[in-house]
Amino acid sequence: MKDIFEVISKRHSVRSYTGELPPESFMRDLAARVAESRGDGWRIVLIKSGIDGKIGSYGIISNAPAWMVLIADGRDQSALEAAMAMERLVLQSTAAGVGTCWVGGTFRIGKLNALLDKNRNEKVLAVVPFGIPKDNKSMLEKVMTKLAHSKTRKPFDSLFSATGDNFGPYREALEAVRLAPSAVNAQPWRAHVDGPKVTFSTATDNSYTMLDMGIALCHFSLVAEQQSLPGHLKIDIALPHIATWQ
Ligand SMILES: Cc1cc2nc3c(=O)[nH]c(=O)nc-3n(C[C@H](O)[C@H](O)[C@H](O)COP(=O)(O)O)c2cc1C
Repeated sequence: MKDIFEVISKRHSVRSYTGELPPESFMRDLAARVAESRGDGWRIVLIKSGIDGKIGSYGIISNAPAWMVLIADGRDQSALEAAMAMERLVLQSTAAGVGTCWVGGTFRIGKLNALLDKNRNEKVLAVVPFGIPKDNKSMLEKVMTKLAHSKTRKPFDSLFSATGDNFGPYREALEAVRLAPSAVNAQPWRAHVDGPKVTFSTATDNSYTMLDMGIALCHFSLVAEQQSLPGHLKIDIALPHIATWQ
Protein backbone atom coordinates (compact mmCIF):
# COMPACT_ATOMS: atom_id res chain seq x y z
CA MET A 1 0.00 0.00 0.00
CA LYS A 2 1.32 3.42 -0.96
CA ASP A 3 0.73 5.85 1.87
CA ILE A 4 -0.78 3.78 4.64
CA PHE A 5 -1.76 6.80 6.71
CA GLU A 6 -3.76 8.20 3.80
CA VAL A 7 -5.54 4.85 3.34
CA ILE A 8 -6.31 4.70 7.08
CA SER A 9 -7.71 8.25 6.94
CA LYS A 10 -9.92 7.37 3.96
CA ARG A 11 -11.47 4.19 5.39
CA HIS A 12 -14.97 4.45 6.76
CA SER A 13 -17.78 1.95 7.19
CA VAL A 14 -19.84 1.38 4.04
CA ARG A 15 -23.26 -0.19 4.61
CA SER A 16 -24.86 0.29 1.15
CA TYR A 17 -23.39 -1.35 -1.93
CA THR A 18 -24.26 -1.57 -5.64
CA GLY A 19 -24.49 -5.38 -5.47
CA GLU A 20 -21.71 -5.89 -8.06
CA LEU A 21 -18.51 -7.75 -7.23
CA PRO A 22 -15.31 -5.66 -7.38
CA PRO A 23 -13.15 -6.17 -10.53
CA GLU A 24 -11.78 -9.66 -11.15
CA SER A 25 -8.15 -8.65 -10.57
CA PHE A 26 -9.06 -7.36 -7.10
CA MET A 27 -11.02 -10.53 -6.29
CA ARG A 28 -8.07 -12.72 -7.39
CA ASP A 29 -5.58 -10.78 -5.22
CA LEU A 30 -7.97 -10.81 -2.29
CA ALA A 31 -8.57 -14.56 -2.57
CA ALA A 32 -4.80 -15.15 -2.52
CA ARG A 33 -4.37 -12.92 0.55
CA VAL A 34 -7.31 -14.50 2.35
CA ALA A 35 -5.84 -17.97 1.72
CA GLU A 36 -2.70 -16.83 3.57
CA SER A 37 -4.71 -15.25 6.41
CA ARG A 38 -4.66 -18.03 8.97
CA GLY A 39 -2.80 -18.78 12.15
CA ASP A 40 -2.88 -20.77 15.34
CA GLY A 41 -6.59 -21.01 16.24
CA TRP A 42 -7.99 -18.65 13.61
CA ARG A 43 -8.71 -18.28 9.90
CA ILE A 44 -10.44 -15.94 7.46
CA VAL A 45 -12.79 -17.22 4.78
CA LEU A 46 -14.12 -15.48 1.65
CA ILE A 47 -17.75 -15.99 0.67
CA LYS A 48 -19.19 -14.76 -2.60
CA SER A 49 -22.84 -14.52 -1.84
CA GLY A 50 -24.99 -11.63 -0.75
CA ILE A 51 -26.13 -10.95 2.77
CA ASP A 52 -28.58 -8.26 3.54
CA GLY A 53 -30.31 -6.76 6.51
CA LYS A 54 -29.39 -6.79 10.14
CA ILE A 55 -26.61 -9.32 10.49
CA GLY A 56 -24.68 -8.18 13.55
CA SER A 57 -25.63 -6.35 16.69
CA TYR A 58 -26.70 -3.17 14.92
CA GLY A 59 -26.70 -1.54 11.52
CA ILE A 60 -28.20 -2.70 8.27
CA ILE A 61 -26.15 -3.85 5.33
CA SER A 62 -27.68 -3.61 1.86
CA ASN A 63 -26.57 -5.23 -1.41
CA ALA A 64 -23.12 -6.44 -0.30
CA PRO A 65 -22.06 -8.99 -2.97
CA ALA A 66 -19.50 -10.83 -0.83
CA TRP A 67 -17.99 -10.96 2.60
CA MET A 68 -14.98 -12.04 4.61
CA VAL A 69 -15.63 -14.14 7.69
CA LEU A 70 -13.39 -14.20 10.74
CA ILE A 71 -13.42 -17.59 12.47
CA ALA A 72 -11.50 -18.28 15.68
CA ASP A 73 -11.35 -20.56 18.69
CA GLY A 74 -12.23 -19.05 22.06
CA ARG A 75 -8.78 -17.68 22.95
CA ASP A 76 -8.16 -13.93 23.22
CA GLN A 77 -4.86 -14.20 21.35
CA SER A 78 -6.56 -15.90 18.38
CA ALA A 79 -9.18 -13.15 18.13
CA LEU A 80 -6.52 -10.41 18.40
CA GLU A 81 -4.27 -11.92 15.71
CA ALA A 82 -7.23 -12.61 13.42
CA ALA A 83 -8.48 -9.02 13.75
CA MET A 84 -5.01 -7.71 12.85
CA ALA A 85 -5.04 -9.84 9.69
CA MET A 86 -8.62 -8.89 8.80
CA GLU A 87 -7.89 -5.16 9.14
CA ARG A 88 -4.98 -5.54 6.68
CA LEU A 89 -7.49 -6.97 4.19
CA VAL A 90 -9.88 -4.10 4.97
CA LEU A 91 -7.21 -1.47 4.30
CA GLN A 92 -6.07 -3.21 1.10
CA SER A 93 -9.71 -3.02 0.01
CA THR A 94 -9.92 0.69 0.90
CA ALA A 95 -6.76 1.34 -1.13
CA ALA A 96 -8.47 -0.27 -4.14
CA GLY A 97 -11.66 1.78 -3.72
CA VAL A 98 -13.62 -1.18 -2.33
CA GLY A 99 -15.95 -0.44 0.59
CA THR A 100 -16.06 -2.52 3.78
CA CYS A 101 -17.83 -2.60 7.14
CA TRP A 102 -16.79 -4.62 10.20
CA VAL A 103 -19.81 -6.39 11.67
CA GLY A 104 -19.40 -8.15 14.99
CA GLY A 105 -21.72 -9.72 17.49
CA THR A 106 -24.09 -12.61 17.29
CA PHE A 107 -25.03 -13.72 13.84
CA ARG A 108 -28.42 -14.83 12.75
CA ILE A 109 -27.47 -15.92 9.27
CA GLY A 110 -28.87 -19.43 9.06
CA LYS A 111 -27.04 -20.27 5.85
CA LEU A 112 -23.65 -19.17 7.13
CA ASN A 113 -22.85 -22.23 9.24
CA ALA A 114 -23.58 -24.60 6.38
CA LEU A 115 -21.25 -22.64 4.10
CA LEU A 116 -18.38 -22.57 6.55
CA ASP A 117 -17.81 -26.14 7.62
CA LYS A 118 -16.70 -25.07 11.11
CA ASN A 119 -15.49 -27.47 13.74
CA ARG A 120 -16.89 -27.42 17.25
CA ASN A 121 -14.22 -25.15 18.79
CA GLU A 122 -14.68 -22.50 16.14
CA LYS A 123 -16.89 -19.43 16.27
CA VAL A 124 -17.65 -16.67 13.81
CA LEU A 125 -16.46 -13.52 15.62
CA ALA A 126 -17.05 -11.00 12.86
CA VAL A 127 -17.93 -10.66 9.20
CA VAL A 128 -16.82 -7.93 6.83
CA PRO A 129 -19.20 -7.36 3.90
CA PHE A 130 -17.43 -5.65 1.02
CA GLY A 131 -18.15 -4.34 -2.46
CA ILE A 132 -18.58 -1.24 -4.59
CA PRO A 133 -19.99 1.57 -2.40
CA LYS A 134 -23.32 2.92 -3.58
CA ASP A 135 -22.79 6.56 -4.57
CA ASN A 136 -25.72 8.11 -2.85
CA LYS A 137 -26.04 7.04 0.73
CA SER A 138 -29.56 5.96 1.52
CA MET A 139 -31.46 7.82 4.20
CA LEU A 140 -31.13 4.67 6.32
CA GLU A 141 -27.36 4.58 5.97
CA LYS A 142 -27.12 8.24 6.95
CA VAL A 143 -29.14 7.49 10.07
CA MET A 144 -27.00 4.41 10.86
CA THR A 145 -23.76 6.35 10.43
CA LYS A 146 -25.07 8.97 12.79
CA LEU A 147 -26.30 6.42 15.33
CA ALA A 148 -22.90 4.69 15.30
CA HIS A 149 -21.28 8.13 15.96
CA SER A 150 -19.01 7.17 13.09
CA LYS A 151 -17.41 10.51 12.44
CA THR A 152 -16.35 11.37 15.95
CA ARG A 153 -13.18 10.26 17.68
CA LYS A 154 -11.98 10.99 21.23
CA PRO A 155 -9.21 13.61 21.52
CA PHE A 156 -5.65 12.26 21.17
CA ASP A 157 -4.73 13.29 24.72
CA SER A 158 -7.65 11.43 26.28
CA LEU A 159 -6.50 8.14 24.69
CA PHE A 160 -2.71 8.36 24.80
CA SER A 161 -0.12 9.58 27.29
CA ALA A 162 3.68 9.83 27.37
CA THR A 163 6.30 10.17 30.04
CA GLY A 164 7.41 13.82 30.02
CA ASP A 165 4.75 14.39 27.33
CA ASN A 166 7.32 13.09 24.85
CA PHE A 167 5.69 10.93 22.17
CA GLY A 168 8.99 10.67 20.26
CA PRO A 169 8.44 9.27 16.75
CA TYR A 170 5.14 7.56 17.65
CA ARG A 171 2.64 10.40 17.28
CA GLU A 172 1.51 9.54 13.73
CA ALA A 173 1.28 5.80 14.43
CA LEU A 174 -0.93 6.60 17.44
CA GLU A 175 -3.01 8.99 15.35
CA ALA A 176 -3.57 6.01 13.02
CA VAL A 177 -4.87 4.08 16.04
CA ARG A 178 -7.23 6.95 16.85
CA LEU A 179 -8.77 6.70 13.35
CA ALA A 180 -9.41 2.95 13.69
CA PRO A 181 -12.91 1.51 13.51
CA SER A 182 -14.26 0.02 16.73
CA ALA A 183 -17.55 -1.60 17.69
CA VAL A 184 -20.17 1.08 18.44
CA ASN A 185 -17.23 3.46 18.01
CA ALA A 186 -16.24 2.75 21.64
CA GLN A 187 -12.52 3.49 20.99
CA PRO A 188 -11.20 1.34 23.84
CA TRP A 189 -7.55 1.67 22.82
CA ARG A 190 -5.16 3.27 25.31
CA ALA A 191 -1.40 3.65 25.00
CA HIS A 192 1.47 5.02 27.03
CA VAL A 193 4.81 5.99 25.50
CA ASP A 194 7.88 5.73 27.71
CA GLY A 195 10.98 6.49 25.61
CA PRO A 196 11.30 3.69 23.04
CA LYS A 197 8.52 1.61 24.59
CA VAL A 198 4.79 1.86 23.80
CA THR A 199 2.40 -0.03 26.09
CA PHE A 200 -1.11 -0.79 24.80
CA SER A 201 -4.08 -1.48 27.05
CA THR A 202 -7.85 -1.59 26.75
CA ALA A 203 -10.59 0.36 28.50
CA THR A 204 -13.21 -2.36 27.78
CA ASP A 205 -13.62 -6.05 28.51
CA ASN A 206 -16.40 -7.34 26.28
CA SER A 207 -16.87 -9.58 23.26
CA TYR A 208 -15.50 -6.88 20.93
CA THR A 209 -12.39 -5.95 22.93
CA MET A 210 -9.91 -8.24 21.18
CA LEU A 211 -11.26 -7.31 17.74
CA ASP A 212 -11.04 -3.58 18.48
CA MET A 213 -7.54 -3.93 19.92
CA GLY A 214 -6.32 -6.14 17.04
CA ILE A 215 -7.51 -3.54 14.53
CA ALA A 216 -5.69 -0.80 16.46
CA LEU A 217 -2.46 -2.80 16.65
CA CYS A 218 -2.68 -3.40 12.90
CA HIS A 219 -2.91 0.36 12.26
CA PHE A 220 -0.01 1.09 14.62
CA SER A 221 2.22 -1.64 13.13
CA LEU A 222 1.55 -0.67 9.52
CA VAL A 223 2.48 2.98 10.12
CA ALA A 224 5.48 1.98 12.26
CA GLU A 225 6.67 -0.39 9.51
CA GLN A 226 6.19 2.20 6.78
CA GLN A 227 8.14 4.77 8.79
CA SER A 228 10.80 2.20 9.78
CA LEU A 229 10.28 2.99 13.46
CA PRO A 230 12.52 0.88 15.67
CA GLY A 231 10.93 -1.95 17.63
CA HIS A 232 8.49 -4.78 17.17
CA LEU A 233 5.14 -5.81 18.57
CA LYS A 234 4.95 -8.23 21.49
CA ILE A 235 1.46 -9.52 22.29
CA ASP A 236 1.15 -10.33 25.95
CA ILE A 237 -2.50 -10.28 27.04
CA ALA A 238 -3.26 -9.83 30.76
CA LEU A 239 -6.21 -7.43 30.86
CA PRO A 240 -6.20 -4.50 30.71
CA HIS A 241 -2.68 -4.97 29.27
CA ILE A 242 -2.63 -6.11 25.63
CA ALA A 243 0.79 -5.62 24.04
CA THR A 244 3.99 -3.60 23.88
CA TRP A 245 5.96 -2.15 21.01
CA GLN A 246 9.65 -1.97 21.85
C1 LIG B 1 -15.44 -5.19 16.00
C2 LIG B 1 -16.43 -4.30 15.29
C3 LIG B 1 -17.77 -4.65 15.24
C4 LIG B 1 -18.70 -3.83 14.55
N1 LIG B 1 -20.00 -4.24 14.48
C5 LIG B 1 -20.88 -3.50 13.74
C6 LIG B 1 -22.24 -3.96 13.59
O1 LIG B 1 -22.65 -4.99 14.13
N2 LIG B 1 -23.07 -3.21 12.81
C7 LIG B 1 -22.64 -2.05 12.18
O2 LIG B 1 -23.44 -1.42 11.49
N3 LIG B 1 -21.38 -1.57 12.34
C8 LIG B 1 -20.48 -2.28 13.09
N4 LIG B 1 -19.18 -1.84 13.24
C9 LIG B 1 -18.74 -0.56 12.60
C10 LIG B 1 -18.57 0.57 13.64
O3 LIG B 1 -19.83 1.06 14.08
C11 LIG B 1 -17.73 1.70 13.03
O4 LIG B 1 -16.47 1.20 12.69
C12 LIG B 1 -17.57 2.90 13.96
O5 LIG B 1 -18.83 3.49 14.22
C13 LIG B 1 -16.64 3.96 13.35
O6 LIG B 1 -17.11 4.40 12.10
P1 LIG B 1 -16.21 4.28 10.79
O7 LIG B 1 -15.89 2.81 10.59
O8 LIG B 1 -17.08 4.83 9.68
O9 LIG B 1 -14.96 5.08 11.01
C14 LIG B 1 -18.26 -2.62 13.94
C15 LIG B 1 -16.90 -2.26 14.03
C16 LIG B 1 -15.99 -3.08 14.68
C17 LIG B 1 -14.56 -2.70 14.72
